[in-house]
Amino acid sequence: MTEPVIVLDRVSRAFGPKKVLAEASLKINAGEIVAILGASGSGKSVTLKMINGLILPDSGSINVLGYHVNALRDRDLAPLRRKISYLFQGGALFDSMTVFDNIAFPIREHLKMDPDQLAERVTTLLAMVQLDDVEHLAPSELSGGMRKRVAVARALALEPEIILYDEPTTGLDPVTGEAIANLILDLDRRLGVTSLVVTHDIPLVLRVADRVAFLESGQFIFDGTLEAARTSGPDTVKQFFQAGVIHA
Ligand SMILES: Nc1ncnc2c1ncn2[C@@H]1O[C@H](COP(=O)(O)OP(=O)(O)OP(=O)(O)O)[C@@H](O)[C@H]1O
Ligand SMILES: [Mg+2]
Repeated sequence: MTEPVIVLDRVSRAFGPKKVLAEASLKINAGEIVAILGASGSGKSVTLKMINGLILPDSGSINVLGYHVNALRDRDLAPLRRKISYLFQGGALFDSMTVFDNIAFPIREHLKMDPDQLAERVTTLLAMVQLDDVEHLAPSELSGGMRKRVAVARALALEPEIILYDEPTTGLDPVTGEAIANLILDLDRRLGVTSLVVTHDIPLVLRVADRVAFLESGQFIFDGTLEAARTSGPDTVKQFFQAGVIHA
């Protein structure tokens, strides 16, 4: 019934002497929402970048939607990247472009749409993240939470099959964080998107994740349900949840 859409098989990657991933393996099934947890610097963002081919492994294999990511050249990765959205840690909007042009950018790159259609699409995307009347503003004229939501709207522009969220709620107030959580759930239920959520936000994990994968010492030392993570996971995993819930 379910088939894996992302398979990391014994993936290793070092930066200089520092081994970030060491034979890490992970499978993600279609339509799942999986939270990737781990201490700061454990390799969570590196893992996401490997899934869309921004960073290559030293060894091991990465298969995403049937594409053998680490064997393809950049140009051959274009069709895959069209199906994956990456919400970068920090948002990474283009500062010199308006909100409209930021969201329109991936659409103009990949699809043919007439200007009216495009304008309507951008408005719809902004409404999905509960923003309106900000099209003409520059990113510098928005609050941090609004920037993050614009980044989410841009990530949704091409109706991706997979969304990689790198800390989608960091720095947001709880209400906006809740709106992002609802959006992640809604995309999963309505469009069947497969979602990977890197986060330190335990309430978000409890709210959206079907499964938790915990990265430590270069490997996913735990991979299981929320319930298992909280009760029978390794101590570091249990502590992560306890500390997170107390913080919240
Ligand atoms: N392009 C790069 N060149 C050199 N080192 C890198 C590069 N990208 C990541 N690293 C190193 O890899 C390690 C893991 O980084 P990564 O960004 O994946 O951490 P993280 O788990 O996302 O942490 P955080 O929770 O703080 O975002 C860090 O030690 C980092 O310095
Ligand atoms: Mg990171």
